[in-house]
Amino acid sequence: MSMVKIKKVSVLGSGVMGHGIAQISAMAGYHVTIRDIDQAFLDKAMDKIRWSLSKMVEKGKIASSDMQSILSRITTTVSLKDAVADADLIIEAIPEDMRLKKDTFSELDRLADPRTIFASNTSTLPITEIATATSREDRFIGIHFFNPPQLMQLVEVIPGAKTSKDTVSIALEYVKSLRKEPILCRKDVAGFIVNRIFIPLVHEAAWEMLENKASMRAIDAAFKFKLGFPMGIFELADYTGLDVIYKASKEMLARDNKVLNPCPLVEELYSKGLYGQKSGKGFYEYSKDKYERVELKQEEAEHYEPLRLIAVAVNNASWLISNDVASKEDVEKALMLGMGLKEALFTIAERFGYPRIVQMLSKLAESNKFYEPDRYLLNLIK
Ligand code: 3HC
Repeated sequence: MSMVKIKKVSVLGSGVMGHGIAQISAMAGYHVTIRDIDQAFLDKAMDKIRWSLSKMVEKGKIASSDMQSILSRITTTVSLKDAVADADLIIEAIPEDMRLKKDTFSELDRLADPRTIFASNTSTLPITEIATATSREDRFIGIHFFNPPQLMQLVEVIPGAKTSKDTVSIALEYVKSLRKEPILCRKDVAGFIVNRIFIPLVHEAAWEMLENKASMRAIDAAFKFKLGFPMGIFELADYTGLDVIYKASKEMLARDNKVLNPCPLVEELYSKGLYGQKSGKGFYEYSKDKYERVELKQEEAEHYEPLRLIAVAVNNASWLISNDVASKEDVEKALMLGMGLKEALFTIAERFGYPRIVQMLSKLAESNKFYEPDRYLLNLIK
């Protein structure tokens, strides 16, 4: 079959990720259809796209005349059949539930043209397994964006076991056409590259609060001012959505029980419907569902030493390298472009000292194997 030229993109799901993916695709000149189950969700998504585009006009990133043409390339629908008609690429950004994704893709497989490429924006679910719900496993791939897709440069591209080379090339070309930086995730592992580091960190920070009575604001300020992340880790969890974090954690643990140390605080917030910014409350409180930052002060960082957080982050990064999921350069690049790190993770870790990091991990590993220092990290202190 000849290579498909992408002209029309359909995005399933209009939430935090879906609307952003639709927007940047329309900005790159594609005709885009967004599909959701309720028109009210779609209207809200269009409001968010208009807000984001106005911000870009305000900052001179796009001309105000572009805004109308970008909007004119986006249509919305509640009909799955209409959404997929003549789509060259379908990107799924619906909730992180394997059953739901498989059911959706199996229906799509019946409705879409056989040449259409299917992509999942899943944060953690195995691409190989979702693809089995279709008769086009060769034309199925993971294209994983980072929140907010409008501003984050990274897109992870994850081939499944049966994804064809042509499909990988098309996905990489599509990502580049959005002026984003694709990074190929060589193995379909739980959490891929960035979430393998990010999701366990949320639990770790929550343990520091629950077990070691560290203050939430001090942890966040240290994360920001001592580790150089653009947001505090709890702030970032709220921004990402505790529903996303909780479901991703569950799925990751189901695939690999040593992937993180689940902290009950995350489940508690999720079960109370405290999802973060989108629900008005998570770790912090917000004026409902709008972009809002937590004001953190540098002096608050003095009350917390983020050794355990950097230790867990660098240990998971080491695991990715020693298991050949990505090179050290790609892991570093992914963290900078996907989470906005100003400095390389291993450079930050070096400042804390690898021997101290390994010592801390070894102590924690006495009660939980998740913390066992990875061989790549151990080699750094030889
Ligand atoms: N579109 C357009 N503009 C936007 C925007 C959007 N979607 N979101 C925010 N902005 C604007 C803000 O309103 C602000 O404008 P203003 O100057 O007029 O107030 C401007 O961008 C800058 O925002 P901030 O003042 O908050 O400044 P920052 O420099 O901190 O940039 C950020 C914001 C890019 C979000 C930065 O904080 C960041 O990189 N945060 C980390 C995000 C991250 O880690 N994402 C990945 C999470 S993991 C994930 O998504 C994977 C998934 O599978 C779970």
